[in-house]
Amino acid sequence: MTGKLIDGRAVAAAIYKTIKQEMIVLKQNHNIIPTLAVVVAGDDLASHRYVNMIEGKCREIGVSSQIHRLPSSCSQEELIELITSMNQDDQIHGVLLQLPLPALIDEKEVNSQVKAEKDVDGFHATNVGNLFLGDNTIYPCTPKGIMRLIKSTGIEIKGKNAVVIGRSNIVGKPAAIMLLNENATVTICHSRTKNLKEHVIKADILVVAVGKTDLITSDMIKEGAVVIDAGTNIVSGKITGDVEFDKAREIASFITPVPGGVGPMTIAMLIENTVEIAKKKCK
Ligand code: GUN
Repeated sequence: MTGKLIDGRAVAAAIYKTIKQEMIVLKQNHNIIPTLAVVVAGDDLASHRYVNMIEGKCREIGVSSQIHRLPSSCSQEELIELITSMNQDDQIHGVLLQLPLPALIDEKEVNSQVKAEKDVDGFHATNVGNLFLGDNTIYPCTPKGIMRLIKSTGIEIKGKNAVVIGRSNIVGKPAAIMLLNENATVTICHSRTKNLKEHVIKADILVVAVGKTDLITSDMIKEGAVVIDAGTNIVSGKITGDVEFDKAREIASFITPVPGGVGPMTIAMLIENTVEIAKKKCK
């Protein structure tokens, strides 16, 4: 078996097409332009790259973006003041505080200031709680994108063995809960898991979000599995995922490439979340 590629760029493009149509309705009927405010503090290169990509995509789609780039010397009070003003501004629908924050800042404290209703990242305790309870909420972008990619294959999630590798608050944990909410039987593996292969080999759906090249070798993968690789690693200047792609593709039924799999979905989901929040304002 040679696994079919799950083309994240194509899935994202279809989502943007729908978003653009929704935005025409929002503008015509309610005079609303979805607006995303972003705060990036410090000089983390990956953060600045991500924020620049958000800015570019917003411009392309027609979502209004306000990007605040603060130096690493900024104070916690300054950040909280900025977020408070964004919370209060009716023209702003989504607020994103890019992580990590500079070392001396209490990340948890500042992040908790983002109003749950504007939390496009789905990181607020209220939104995390709703996710945990299986209630409708603002879903975190990367796991939301992962679920869309799995669904794009047409396979049924209910009753499948899903194995998630990685337990970060941003990807692994929420992805596991989303799969559970769709009635998969979910196993979460992490850095302390003993005999990783024993778990991975049982996965009908495998989600890998660790950040370690070739962590998952083809001998670990069950024949016909759907493999979602959310890893991003740079090896000799090239971007790779966490799965030994070429060999794994021979065994999987569907597999995401890196790049071009999960990556393009994250910003698509961020923009979708912003538009969904704007739509709620008209109800
Ligand atoms: N840092 C790394 N990934 C993310 C993300 O998805 N959202 C935010 N706010 N910060 C990040």
